[in-house]
Amino acid sequence: MKPTRLSMRLGLTVTAMSAVLVVVMATFAYATISHQLEVRAQAGLSEKLGQIEHSLAESLSSTADIVLHPHNLRDQIIGHDNFTLTILDASVPRKRLMNLGSNEALELPVPDAGGPLHDFRRMKSGEGYEVLVAYKEVRLASGQQILIILSLDRKSDVTLLNAFVKSTLIGLPFILLLVGGCGWWVVHRGLRPLRAFRKIAERVTARDLSLRMQVTGLPDELRDLAHAVNLMLHRLDGDVQQLAQFSDDLAHELRSPLNNLMGKAQVTLSRDRPPQEYKQVLESCTEELERLSLMVSQMLFLASVNQPSIRLAFGPVDLYEEARKVADLFASSAEEKAMLVQVHGRGRSQGDRLMIQRAISNLLSNAIRHGTAGSTVTITLNEQPDEVSLAVRNAGDGIESEHLPRLFDRFYRVHPSRSRLQGGTGLGLAIVRSIMTLHRGRVTVESELGHSTAFTLHFPS
Ligand SMILES: Nc1ncnc2c1ncn2[C@@H]1O[C@H](COP(=O)(O)OP(=O)(O)OP(=O)(O)O)[C@@H](O)[C@H]1O
Ligand SMILES: [Mg+2]
Repeated sequence: MKPTRLSMRLGLTVTAMSAVLVVVMATFAYATISHQLEVRAQAGLSEKLGQIEHSLAESLSSTADIVLHPHNLRDQIIGHDNFTLTILDASVPRKRLMNLGSNEALELPVPDAGGPLHDFRRMKSGEGYEVLVAYKEVRLASGQQILIILSLDRKSDVTLLNAFVKSTLIGLPFILLLVGGCGWWVVHRGLRPLRAFRKIAERVTARDLSLRMQVTGLPDELRDLAHAVNLMLHRLDGDVQQLAQFSDDLAHELRSPLNNLMGKAQVTLSRDRPPQEYKQVLESCTEELERLSLMVSQMLFLASVNQPSIRLAFGPVDLYEEARKVADLFASSAEEKAMLVQVHGRGRSQGDRLMIQRAISNLLSNAIRHGTAGSTVTITLNEQPDEVSLAVRNAGDGIESEHLPRLFDRFYRVHPSRSRLQGGTGLGLAIVRSIMTLHRGRVTVESELGHSTAFTLHFPS
């Protein structure tokens, strides 16, 4: 079964990798040491052969000398308990002249007379250790030919290599434990910030989105993540606050018309009245209900516009045509205030025709409602390289600058009670802003107190 903890998983992976690494390194070291020992053994044998040859040349001139004075050569062998020296008469039949050293009993292979002479040969000693054998044919001063066989018992080399293998095998589990433990500890420590992430995540609720990750001191990868998490919390916080504000506003907006309706109904029912009075009350209630119904349908529209999955009927839109149509629709309400609506300029854009119509009519209804009686409302189209704009301007009292930033918020009105009396829901400009966001455009407002107000829709070209 795979461990689920990252620290454990990484610890085990590091251990497995270290195991492979240690085995590879130990094998490599074993091969190198064993090769070096072999080279040194061969060099030792060659050197010793050279010394023996030298002694023979100096003091032993015939085979008889060798048999009579073996002590001349003994000095070369005594004290080196792993060398064994055998000297044979090279002529046929081979005759052993002397045998000296640690392994005198060992039966060394003797090459056939006249056959090829190997530099080195290998064989096993009685105890099972490797024995390296070197051969050399030497002509004595007397002209006699002898064969020197020098063997080296490699017991000490084998013991050394065995000790190396043994210590590696004993040390390996400890090394692996240490490496695995260190790996686990380093990862465990490195992941400490993640536990802080978890703590924050456990404490975040819709009611408390004020918590933020500590960014300083984090490694780079986690710092980016912490930044992203903080940004997400910040956005969520804003959205949740907006939502809470919206439900507050909504309850507030619904309360007064509902109270009105209830009050009227209760007062009317408190005593018998003539049918004419009932009719009047019902008419006034219907007006109030119509306003409520309008508010609900505008809120539904706003909600649908703000849906990420909304489907738009995008296409080319002649803004002049649409502005003309909306102006015609509002002709009668403008006439009631003796106002005139004029459309100037040309402009084309891409968008949803009905939505754009709705945005223009929201601006035009405001302009007529707040415009000075008898004045002219102008809709001006302007095509520029990077954008197309549509401005709706009316003469009027204007809007104080402190209201301008909040004008596009839902239910925001400059004069709440007056606006309500006029039948406004306070959602018109919020809808305009949502429509413009859908079109990747924006809406701006300019107002000159006591003079005029202009709302401008900006569409990207
Ligand atoms: N042309 C304008 N001149 C002066 N004030 C304006 C103008 N247009 C909008 N306002 C102010 O902005 C407020 C918000 O306008 P918005 O269109 O969002 O709501 P509304 O007109 O009150 O209601 P609705 O449009 O939903 O019927 C208005 O109540 C009004 O005070
Ligand atoms: Mg309006």
